[in-house]
Amino acid sequence: MAWFSKAENDPSLSVPDVVEVPSPIEKVPENLSQKPTAAQSSNPNDALNELLVNTLGEDSTLVKILSSNPYFAAGFGLMGLGAGLAILRQAVLKGSNFVYRQMLVDLEIASKDKSYTWFLEWMSQYPKRSSRHLSINTTVKQHDNGSMTTTFNLVPGPGKHLIRYKGAFMLVARERSGRLMDLTSGTPFETITLTTLYRDRHLLPELLNEAQQRAIKQREGKTVIYTSFGPEWRPFGQPRRKRSLDSVILAKGLKEKLVEDVRDFLESSKWYHDRGIPYRRGYLLYGPPGSGKSSVIQALCGELDYNICILNLSEATLTDDRLNHLMNHVPERSILLLEDIDAAFNERKQTGEDQGYLSGVTFSGLLNALDGVASADERLIFMTTNHPERLDPALIRPGRVDYKALIDNATEDQVRAMFLRFYEGETEKCEHFLQSVLDLGTTISTAQLQGLFVYNKHNSQGAIDMVKLLKRK
Ligand SMILES: Nc1ncnc2c1ncn2[C@@H]1O[C@H](COP(=O)(O)OP(=O)(O)O)[C@@H](O)[C@H]1O
Ligand SMILES: [Mg+2]
Repeated sequence: MAWFSKAENDPSLSVPDVVEVPSPIEKVPENLSQKPTAAQSSNPNDALNELLVNTLGEDSTLVKILSSNPYFAAGFGLMGLGAGLAILRQAVLKGSNFVYRQMLVDLEIASKDKSYTWFLEWMSQYPKRSSRHLSINTTVKQHDNGSMTTTFNLVPGPGKHLIRYKGAFMLVARERSGRLMDLTSGTPFETITLTTLYRDRHLLPELLNEAQQRAIKQREGKTVIYTSFGPEWRPFGQPRRKRSLDSVILAKGLKEKLVEDVRDFLESSKWYHDRGIPYRRGYLLYGPPGSGKSSVIQALCGELDYNICILNLSEATLTDDRLNHLMNHVPERSILLLEDIDAAFNERKQTGEDQGYLSGVTFSGLLNALDGVASADERLIFMTTNHPERLDPALIRPGRVDYKALIDNATEDQVRAMFLRFYEGETEKCEHFLQSVLDLGTTISTAQLQGLFVYNKHNSQGAIDMVKLLKRK
């Protein structure tokens, strides 16, 4: 307490003597009223001074320097201000994060998800958007006559876009993940994140619903054709217009019986489940090329409102594993079509001598895949072949193939029906045409007939004259 006694002896000091001061209510010492304490003061410098005085004593040289030097005082003031700002900044950051979490919702759609393409398609047509990053989505449509039309669709590219949906603002961020790559398609993985205000969150499902409805509407009246792409099914080109059953002309009664059988199967799910039988049915359509096997299956899909998954067993890169995987992951409401089913048999029987077939699918692999097809939903499997005689009886046994039908070259009825479909009402010419076909002495396929009629589109006589060209040499 040395500094206390020192203070008593020094009259120049103005620190009041605590003992002698009367009640502060009666008389406030002048020096006190002139010099407010730190608590009363709003100036941080004063507070600092008092702190220094209290700890070091009033006559400490350090105190004198610090309190008299304006630069030091200002420095401390700045330090205090800096610290204050840093704390404020932290608070604002935390606060905005909190507000973000409380007031905004985001929804992430990965490129694997079905909604992804629906959303992109929807957004490309949505008028109320502002985006400067666009991607191009080109669709090439090949028509039956061979011509092509190309349409360019500008879809929102990677980046941020703002849309206004039903009065609410939404931020759409399409992001590409740099490193991850979808190996099956060679495209990068992407995500779309939709961010909107918490109170508008109900609009997100509404928007997705709208996008889905739009996509479904576009595919209405169409058949989606899936082909295998690596281990998965991918839509092949744009959905095609449904083929009508009427456009396929088969031998009398054949088509009707086939359609009836399929319909009956589709209505018998309970029957199958009650008896513990796998709910699937295999159809084998065999016959010469160009007789309408593939066509009737496509028309059937249109009739039943099903899509079609086409797998060609003679495809070079197909292996047992892939076949098995594909057959067990058929998209819903799709008919599985295995074309050229005999290709698998060639592999088994012709190892060594005939290397004509490169397919990696073995016969047992095919049987396993067929037997393994287990699905909660119905499973319709169609198989086609031009060489039924090559098929192993093990494949054709019931359970694998439950329905067989020969789709042959054109019968007389078919020739007539085909002719009249192209040249309506020309019944007399029709008989001439039939006669010239019969004169050929060989049967011809419906595909050949179609070729003739397409060539002579407006000239039935031309078709009649050209029949003789179909004679096989
Ligand atoms: N019975 C038929 N009715 C109508 N068109 C047919 C018929 N058979 C073949 N075609 C036509 O011939 C072409 C080839 O037919 P496709 O069904 O692929 O024959 P397959 O599969 O039997 O080899 C198609 O363009 C199809 O329209
Ligand atoms: Mg075919």
